[in-house]
Amino acid sequence: MEYRFSGKSGLQLPLVSLGLWHNFGSEDPADVARAMLLHAWDKGVTHFDIANNYGPAPGTAEITFGKVLREDLASHRDEMIISSKAGYWMWDGPYGNGGSRKYLISSCDQSLKRTGLEYFDIFYSHRYDPDTPIEETMQALVDIVRAGKALYVGISNYPADKQKEAYDYLRAAHVPCVISQYKANIICPETLEENLPVARANGSGFICFSPLAQGLLTDRYLNGIPAGSRASKNVFLRPEQVTDEAVARAQRLGAIAAERGQTLAQMAVSWLLAQDVTSVIVGASSVKQLDDNLQAINNITFTDEEMKLIRGEVKGERGEVRG
Ligand SMILES: NC(=O)c1ccc[n+]([C@@H]2O[C@H](COP(=O)([O-])OP(=O)(O)OC[C@H]3O[C@@H](n4cnc5c(N)ncnc54)[C@H](OP(=O)(O)O)[C@@H]3O)[C@@H](O)[C@H]2O)c1
Repeated sequence: MEYRFSGKSGLQLPLVSLGLWHNFGSEDPADVARAMLLHAWDKGVTHFDIANNYGPAPGTAEITFGKVLREDLASHRDEMIISSKAGYWMWDGPYGNGGSRKYLISSCDQSLKRTGLEYFDIFYSHRYDPDTPIEETMQALVDIVRAGKALYVGISNYPADKQKEAYDYLRAAHVPCVISQYKANIICPETLEENLPVARANGSGFICFSPLAQGLLTDRYLNGIPAGSRASKNVFLRPEQVTDEAVARAQRLGAIAAERGQTLAQMAVSWLLAQDVTSVIVGASSVKQLDDNLQAINNITFTDEEMKLIRGEVKGERGEVRG
């Protein structure tokens, strides 16, 4: 595994990080979750991306991670970067959603309890909340660091103008934003154009989520919607998103990947790494999928011709992803 510095910070992240949004909750097989975490670790994945609401049920991915860390990897805590976030709905009432100081600090405390950690390496504001002054949200992040509950802070899903305001506030408070997390993939490259340059100009790292468009940029749906797949669960990826056009696009992109000696999943991750982002957070539901994705790091250069071919197969589209 190679590691890249996150923006202008001294923190290095692996080219591929593992995300626990799906497949690590209390409703998922614990043995598979554990096997994926251990496989990632064995392959040099030092960064694990979690959030308060990951499950299902919300909160249980943090519990799964904490258990594996305690039982299998406890002696490696200082070799890992573990992140959590707060921003989307987590509990009922006015204090369990958004960007208030009350929500972020209470949620961080809850996440520490669930994981059993003493601190997070990175704590994120998961989204920009238009109903809370950005200064309040940023100061909550600063105070989480000052209280020793996190080493670094990050932002996720902030529109470009608010992204810049967040960076300015955090820099002035001497807790610079170490990383910015956005959805980015071959069929959703907009954040690479809108938000990546802002991150670069302000010294923040940039980490991409849903690099495989939740499975649409893999061979997962080439022969229909398999039982147990994300689209079959009909929550974040809906069966109607698995259109004939999406399947045909996966076939065409898969042919380009094959010419490069890669699977489509590998090429999708490699393509992001070629955009000079800090790291790519992959999801997986099996060790086989994860291993496939990790091999992306073996071929991250593209010819101009390949880039042109890939662009030619893709029309910009922006789906709803909230993780
Ligand atoms: N900040 C945010 O708002 C936000 C939002 C979303 C995600 N994230 C982070 O980003 C991480 C990744 O997001 P994501 O899970 O949407 O990523 P993704 O990598 O685009 O999708 C992962 C899904 O694709 C399928 N898949 C993965 N590898 C495959 C392979 N080699 N072959 C065939 N199918 C494969 C699996 O679907 P099946 O389950 O059907 O097998 C897997 O669950 C999350 O875990 C989370 O940490 C953050």
